[in-house]
Amino acid sequence: MNKIKAAGGVIVVAAVAAGVLLYQNGNTSTDNVADNKIKMNQPLTPSDADAITRGRYVAIAGDCVACHTAPGSKEAFSGGYSISTPFGGIFASNITPDAETGIGNWTEREFYRAVRHGKGKEGGNLYPAMPYNAYVKVSDRDMHDLWLYMRSVKPVNNKVPETNLPFPYNIRLAMMGWNLLFFKNEAFKPDLAKSAEWNRGAYLVEGLEHCAACHTPKNIIGGDTGAYLQGSNLGEWFAPEITSNTYTGIGDWSNDQVVQYLKLGSNHVAVASGPMAEAVTNSTQHLTDQDLQAIAVYLKSQPGSDNKKPAAVVLNDAQMKMGANVYEANCTACHNSDGKGIPNLAASLANNPAIMSVDASSILTTVMQGGRGAVTVGNPTSGAMPSFAWKLSDEQTAAVATYIRNSWGNAAPAVPTEDATHTRELLKMPSQIIVK
Ligand code: HEC
Ligand code: HEC
Ligand code: HEC
Repeated sequence: MNKIKAAGGVIVVAAVAAGVLLYQNGNTSTDNVADNKIKMNQPLTPSDADAITRGRYVAIAGDCVACHTAPGSKEAFSGGYSISTPFGGIFASNITPDAETGIGNWTEREFYRAVRHGKGKEGGNLYPAMPYNAYVKVSDRDMHDLWLYMRSVKPVNNKVPETNLPFPYNIRLAMMGWNLLFFKNEAFKPDLAKSAEWNRGAYLVEGLEHCAACHTPKNIIGGDTGAYLQGSNLGEWFAPEITSNTYTGIGDWSNDQVVQYLKLGSNHVAVASGPMAEAVTNSTQHLTDQDLQAIAVYLKSQPGSDNKKPAAVVLNDAQMKMGANVYEANCTACHNSDGKGIPNLAASLANNPAIMSVDASSILTTVMQGGRGAVTVGNPTSGAMPSFAWKLSDEQTAAVATYIRNSWGNAAPAVPTEDATHTRELLKMPSQIIVK
């Protein structure tokens, strides 16, 4: 908490020192290319139809619906979902063409400013929970198509609650400091030394798909570190490294295996669950195979971390022995004694890079709360895993995590019991039920 307060101080100081400068820079925005007269809720014309179709694809690639729709709501883009951040919950806005509670009164230029530069209608700063630091790379053409598509969605009257963060995060001006430190007002620049396919992958991953928002580790005030796509803790989950590293990354997956994961939600070893299941279900499964191949080419060209496989924890270690017993009694039915699971259904724990991640949060969360793989058009019957929180103690959960990280050729640091206790607290799961 002190760390967070100190970070707040840094933000405020940076804001005060450089606010004026940044304000001036903000006005030299390339968003001036967009029209500033026609309001969002004015009628469209039949000649807009093709652009609207393309814009729908842009909205899917940007996964706008994920944050801008409340869980369980049937009213797409009507807002109200609270995005939890280390600084508090931030409500995503109603971005339908409703004039009163949505953005029906906005012009195209105002829309560009919000999406690409994180500016509200009156010029104030949006919180970076809206991934404008990635969307800044979206091309003018995609932005225009997206704008026309958003104008075509159903207006929904839904007043979203105000975001109330504690001081100093309630001061939107403070975000100027964040922008100064982390926001690069730069359009996507193709790397001419690379293929068109690589550049398409780069454009999607760095921009619309905002993969770094989850997969790049953050510093204490929420900015991206330089460890690009090298894995990041999201609280209950860990978004693993997705670079060419062959130990903790996906360097050993073929391009087709990466495509399968993003299209079906599962491949020869892994099954997408939690936040990644949502990303696959809402967004990546709907991309063309060509775009998914491009993403694979780009990811596999990233240098990645220097994580190296350590020696495995030995089987006669006390924690490993406990883990082996827990595994034998509870897990073999689905994951098998060779750890290979059932392809595209129950994840393989052997030879699965995510199981050896530096951070075991996703393993602990999956074992405690159980899980369901992504449901996709290509794989509608995804497998489910039961919750073990009631059955296994924190000590047993950590032990089985250590065991699967160090069996069948896997090797990774042991998981301390405190980590399991911490995950149980985050998940608000009750303690193990002791059967007498
Ligand atoms: C990871 C979550 C997330 C995603 C994905 C996302 N947004 Fe947002 N967006 C937010 C949040 C949170 C806010 C409110 C920020 C604030 O209050 O400062 C917001 C605000 C906005 C606003 C400003 C609305 C207003 O009334 O000020 C617009 C416009 C917007 N988003 C459009 C989009 C579009 C278009 C996409 C897809 C290309 C998108 N957003 C994707 C989280 C997201
Ligand atoms: C909302 C957060 C979030 C976003 C956005 C996101 N991911 Fe993920 N990703 C995760 C999490 C969490 C996991 C781990 C899932 C699990 O354990 O089942 C994951 C897993 C993966 C994996 C499997 C890695 C492995 O070793 O098993 C790949 C590949 C991947 N993501 C690629 C991507 C790509 C490409 C993008 C952008 C198109 C993306 N992700 C966007 C959170 C996210
Ligand atoms: C009834 C079948 C079943 C049982 C029993 C079961 N699992 Fe699973 N497990 C699954 C399925 C299906 C998935 C994929 C869906 C998911 O990730 O939630 C999975 C996924 C996992 C994952 C995530 C892998 C990844 O790629 O993210 C881990 C870790 C895991 N199981 C560990 C265990 C452990 C440890 C046990 C025993 C305590 C166990 N499972 C028992 C079916 C099962």
